[in-house]
Amino acid sequence: MEQTFLMVKPDGVQRGLIGEIVSRFERKGLKLVAAKFMRITPEIAERHYAEHIGKPFYPPLVAFVTSSPVFAMVWQGDNVIGLTRAMIGKTNALEAAPGTIRSDYAVHTNFNLIHGSDSAESAAREIGIFFAPHELLSYTQTM
Ligand code: CMP
Repeated sequence: MEQTFLMVKPDGVQRGLIGEIVSRFERKGLKLVAAKFMRITPEIAERHYAEHIGKPFYPPLVAFVTSSPVFAMVWQGDNVIGLTRAMIGKTNALEAAPGTIRSDYAVHTNFNLIHGSDSAESAAREIGIFFAPHELLSYTQTM
């Protein structure tokens, strides 16, 4: 079963959108297996966004994600990486399709509310940065 790392970024937390965002994935039928309300350290930000080091938006990105708490999550389900990327929408809110999270709630690329892993390799790496193996919970959905 596929897993992905999703993170409501500081703008989503500050705007009170954690519940709305989590609700969308729950209603889709995806399974939450880990969650953590936390403050990202500069070291975690550097590991998480390593592929962007050197890009012009990297310094403000790190300053932003470390400025205030985030809501980090692991979700599980068939094709969960592709499904959640589709539900989140394109990085630039101007290009995000109507009905996606970024289209519905974001106006700026720098404040696009949520991060989602873009591949199985990224998901495994990002989950490992934010969660210890024992924090991923296994349970049966009986209802
Ligand atoms: P995220 O999915 O968290 O991954 C990297 C973040 O950098 C991205 O969302 C945006 O918030 C931010 N960013 C700012 N400018 C750009 C850009 N030109 N391309 C990609 N990401 C950008």
